[in-house]
Amino acid sequence: MRMKCCRRRRGMRRGLTIWSLVKWGGGSAVVLLLLVGLSIHPRKETAVTQDESGSLPARSLQNVLTFLQSDTSEKSGRAVPLKPVVIPDIQDTRDCKPGEWIEGLPPLYIVTPTYPRAEQLPELTRFAQTLMNVPNVVWIVSEDAAEPTQAIVDYLKECGLKTVYLRVQMPAKYQKVKNKPRGVANRLAGLNWIRANAKDGVFYFADDDNTYDIRLFEQMRWTRGVSMFPVGLVTSLGVSTPIVKEGKVVGFYDGWIAKRKFPIDMAGFAVSVQYLLQRPNATMPFKVGYEEDGFVKSLGIKPAEIEPLAFNCTKIWVWHTQTKKNNPAKPVFQNDATIGTNLDIIKNLIWKGKGSEAENKNKSKGAS
Ligand code: UGA
Ligand code: MN
Repeated sequence: MRMKCCRRRRGMRRGLTIWSLVKWGGGSAVVLLLLVGLSIHPRKETAVTQDESGSLPARSLQNVLTFLQSDTSEKSGRAVPLKPVVIPDIQDTRDCKPGEWIEGLPPLYIVTPTYPRAEQLPELTRFAQTLMNVPNVVWIVSEDAAEPTQAIVDYLKECGLKTVYLRVQMPAKYQKVKNKPRGVANRLAGLNWIRANAKDGVFYFADDDNTYDIRLFEQMRWTRGVSMFPVGLVTSLGVSTPIVKEGKVVGFYDGWIAKRKFPIDMAGFAVSVQYLLQRPNATMPFKVGYEEDGFVKSLGIKPAEIEPLAFNCTKIWVWHTQTKKNNPAKPVFQNDATIGTNLDIIKNLIWKGKGSEAENKNKSKGAS
C-alpha cells in the first residue's frame, strides 16, 4: 500500500521508520528507552503493512509516537483499554442564529487563511454555515492574494456572521519555492489583528478546507492557555492526536514526528487570547512542516499546561479534509441562444482563474 502521508509538505514524504520514546526536556535518561532514531526521507515513503489483526507491527510503528517526560512514571500491571465516553447531554447550539452574540460567553476568534482558487467560495460557504451554529464568533478570513477576491468580500458581508476580512500576500521569496509555507503570512496577519483588537476569549487557526464539528468550538472557547485535540484524516494513520493518560497529555501520536516537540496539526490546538497577549514574541515560522510546532513552542507552553479537549482526546471533532482541485472553468459560450438567459449571470460566478495558465496548471498538479 502506498501511503500518502504527506498532507502538506509536498515532495517531503516521510517514512514511518521506528518506535521512538522521546523525553520532553532535559533531566533523567529513563525515557530514552527505545529511542532508536528519527528519520525523514525526502520524497520517499515506506509502505506500512498491517498484520492480520489490523494493527501495525512493532517494527513498523516507527516514528509515530513521542512521549513526554511525565509518562515515565512506574507502570503497574497490564494496561487496560479505555472505553469511549458516552456523552449524556451535549450543549445544543443548533438554534443559534448566524452571528449571535450571547453576553458573558467568551468570544472565539477563528483565523482562516484562504487563497483564490476554484474551490475558495465553496469551502468558505461550507465553513461559514458551520460557524452559523456557533455563538460569539469573530471569523477572521485572511486572504493570501494580490488583490481582494470580490466574491469572497461580498459573501462575508452577506453571510450574517461577524467577519473581519484581511488580505496579505505570501512573501515573494516563498512564492517561488516548490514547498511553500502555505497560509503563514495570512495567519500572522490574523494574529496581528487579534493582538490589536481582542482582549479575551480564544483563537483558533482553522483552515478553509477542514471539516469541523461544532461541539469542538463549544469546548475550545473555555481554553485557559493552550488546548489540544485530535484531528482526523492526517497522514496514513488517519489521525494526529495528543496521547492522554488520566487527563494529562503525555505524548503525541502522529505519522510524522520529525523531531517536532509538538507533532500536531494546525487544526489541533486553540489558544487563549490573554495567553497570547502575554507573549508578544510568539510567532509562526515560515518553515514548511514546522509551522504549528514553531508557533506552539514560541508560546513557551509547559507540558503540564496543555489542556486536552474532546473528552480527553477521545473524540475526533475536526478532520483535515482535502478538496479535489478544479481547473478554472472555460468561458461560457455566448451566442443568440444564450444571451438573455441566466448564463449571462452564471458566466460571472464561475471561477475562470487568475494568473497564467501555467500557474493554474501547476496548482492543479500540486493537488494533494
Ligand atoms: C496542512 C496543514 O493543515 C496546514 O495548516 C498547513 O498550513 C499546511 O499543511 C502547510 O504546512 O503547508 P494542507 O491541507 O496541506 O494543510 O494545505 P492547504 O489546505 O492547501 O493550505 C493550508 C491553508 O492555507 C488553507 O486554509 C489554505 O486556504 C491556505 N493557503 C494555501 C494559503 O493561504 N495560500 C496558499 O498559497 C495555499
Ligand atoms: Mn488543507
